[in-house]
Amino acid sequence: MTVLISGGSGLVGEAITQILLAKNFSVRHLSRRASRRPDGVEVFAWDPDKGTIDEAAFKDLHYIINLAGASIAKRWTPEYKSEVLRSRVEGTRLLFNTVEKLGTPLKAFLSASAVGYYPNSLSETFSEDDAPGNDFLSLVCQKWEQEAINFEQIGIKTFRLRIGIVLSTKGGALPQMALPIKYGFGAALGSGKQWMPWIHLEDLARQFVHCIENNHLEGGVYNAVGPKSVTNKVLTEAIAKSLGRPLILPAVPAFALKLILGEMSETVLASNRCSHEKIHSSGFKYKFPLLEQALNNLYDK
Ligand SMILES: NC(=O)c1ccc[n+]([C@@H]2O[C@H](COP(=O)([O-])OP(=O)(O)OC[C@H]3O[C@@H](n4cnc5c(N)ncnc54)[C@H](OP(=O)(O)O)[C@@H]3O)[C@@H](O)[C@H]2O)c1
Repeated sequence: MTVLISGGSGLVGEAITQILLAKNFSVRHLSRRASRRPDGVEVFAWDPDKGTIDEAAFKDLHYIINLAGASIAKRWTPEYKSEVLRSRVEGTRLLFNTVEKLGTPLKAFLSASAVGYYPNSLSETFSEDDAPGNDFLSLVCQKWEQEAINFEQIGIKTFRLRIGIVLSTKGGALPQMALPIKYGFGAALGSGKQWMPWIHLEDLARQFVHCIENNHLEGGVYNAVGPKSVTNKVLTEAIAKSLGRPLILPAVPAFALKLILGEMSETVLASNRCSHEKIHSSGFKYKFPLLEQALNNLYDK
């Protein structure tokens, strides 16, 4: 079986790639940078901005995993916001147009989305059928998912995984949270009460593979989060404990974060507690269901 991963060179794509290779799948990446890899992964060129793509990537192809998109962890100027949105919408549309044009008989199309789809709430736990929010990240997720739904409309099984905060020491939020803690400046953010729907990188990668390997699984939306979300305060304290560092400073007030980060402060102040019930009851077994297990694994304890 052959799987093509757009944005496969990123944090999540590399983790999925390693699992698929270990299971003897053929793996291809779509990347804006031509490169050669020693592990047998074939890299094909595309450029969603220019609308160009190497159609050879679609020959004898069974699955597409769509992860590509400009990082949200950069200052949100109006130009950059439009790149965050455009890279996801144009990239997914280019994949769709190519599959439709070539008549590629995909077994499934899997697309990343994010828990930022949901509104901000300290009290609710969101399920897959809940209505979206109306801030920038929610809008990006809605438009991104809308492009993915086009695959459903030509009869291809489509999964949309609304990903939580991915825990890894190789990238994403954890190294950024851990850095000030290591230097003694760590503190909870805002009220510290906001829910952080975390998931260990390996479990997230395994969820994508679970969707591929279980033919009986229905397509649709799945929250890709761990079973036990925690608040920002609890997460910050757990990281500090794992690193053996004390937390002495008071929480950083929300207004200060807004001053420093601008609108991007949404990413650390948002509260999107999500249910993991749907993916769990589909038979997925977490390797790291508890935060302490996940952090001990990541910090090699
Ligand atoms: N990590 C998280 O905590 C998290 C949480 C929720 C959702 N997600 C979503 O899941 C997806 C994968 O996450 P990740 O952490 O693996 O992201 P990542 O490490 O930033 O990788 C994303 C990949 O997308 C490609 N890319 C970057 N900018 C692009 C652009 N302007 N146009 C087209 N492609 C571009 C890059 O591949 P090339 O340079 O090879 O082209 C990059 O390796 C992302 O879309 C992200 O928004 C991640």
